[in-house]
Amino acid sequence: MQERNKQYKSWGGEWTEQKLDTFVSYVQAYLKIMNTYRDKFGWKILYFDGFAGSGSRSIDDQKQEAEKFLDIFGKETVDTAELSVYKGAAERVVQLEQKMRGFDYYYFIDMHNENCTKLKSKLDTYPTEGCKVFRSENANDMIRQLAEAMDKDNKLKALVFLDPFGMQIDWASIKALASKSVDLWVLLPTGVIINRLLKRDGILMYPEKLERFFGMSKDEIKKRFYERKVDWNLFTEVDEKYVKVSNSITKIAELFCERMGELFNYVTDKPLVLKNDNNVSIYHLVCASENKVAVKIAQDIIKKRQKY
Ligand SMILES: C[S@@+](CC[C@H](N)C(=O)[O-])C[C@H]1O[C@@H](n2cnc3c(N)ncnc32)[C@H](O)[C@@H]1O
Repeated sequence: MQERNKQYKSWGGEWTEQKLDTFVSYVQAYLKIMNTYRDKFGWKILYFDGFAGSGSRSIDDQKQEAEKFLDIFGKETVDTAELSVYKGAAERVVQLEQKMRGFDYYYFIDMHNENCTKLKSKLDTYPTEGCKVFRSENANDMIRQLAEAMDKDNKLKALVFLDPFGMQIDWASIKALASKSVDLWVLLPTGVIINRLLKRDGILMYPEKLERFFGMSKDEIKKRFYERKVDWNLFTEVDEKYVKVSNSITKIAELFCERMGELFNYVTDKPLVLKNDNNVSIYHLVCASENKVAVKIAQDIIKKRQKY
């Protein structure tokens, strides 16, 4: 058991570190630029973390979260270690105030009240100029409220981090943030979940989840990931089968980036690929913005941290 826990830690440690290091480097670059202009233009800068977690790095917490996904795949087909993510983005972002001027507002959302309470008591130990708000809500509802607030106040600029374990982000939420002063970072469960929902034989598991995630119909999704093959017996169609595309995990990330590109002016065309210890891509981290420089900086940061 101890050996297994060690595995969780060392395995989860490497790619979550890569993810957080990439994201937090961007937050730092974002603040540096915003700090140059915010007073001159009267901007208010907001940090929005839609899946903030509890701030805890306990192995038990990680396993408890990961277990929730097992009902989708069953114990045989998913390694809980792949889903284990230690908690840390919120703490790292507020800590930046120790070396630079930070955000005017910090919004930390987690649908579990207990996580919000734990995170609050942890982050209260870091005094910040900016006002910290903790809300136990569904991130999708809060994103809609953020988008409405930004529509009313064009001085409001937001950096949004959406870092869920699974497919909790609705396409409608991504859409709500488009055409706003938002730099958006999204973690996509490309290999760990989505690829597994696209079965080899052309069957889509949980098609309604896939539709909500991509904002596409299941037929459109199917067309992107399968080739229809028909065997002919002289003139009659005898058998029809669907063959899954090769390199499907990369293609999932590409499709999501392509969809984001329909809403945002700029999207990182080479997202950060996060791999497990079997060298399988499990997540992709992508950034989108209306601002060209923002995405160029994001892409440069990703490039430096991409290990493969
Ligand atoms: C991967 S963890 C967050 C890790 C965190 N970003 C960090 O670096 O510390 C995902 C969190 O999202 C929360 N969550 C899951 N679905 C949610 C939803 N629809 N809205 C808000 N929070 C949600 C879970 O309770 C969990 O704490």
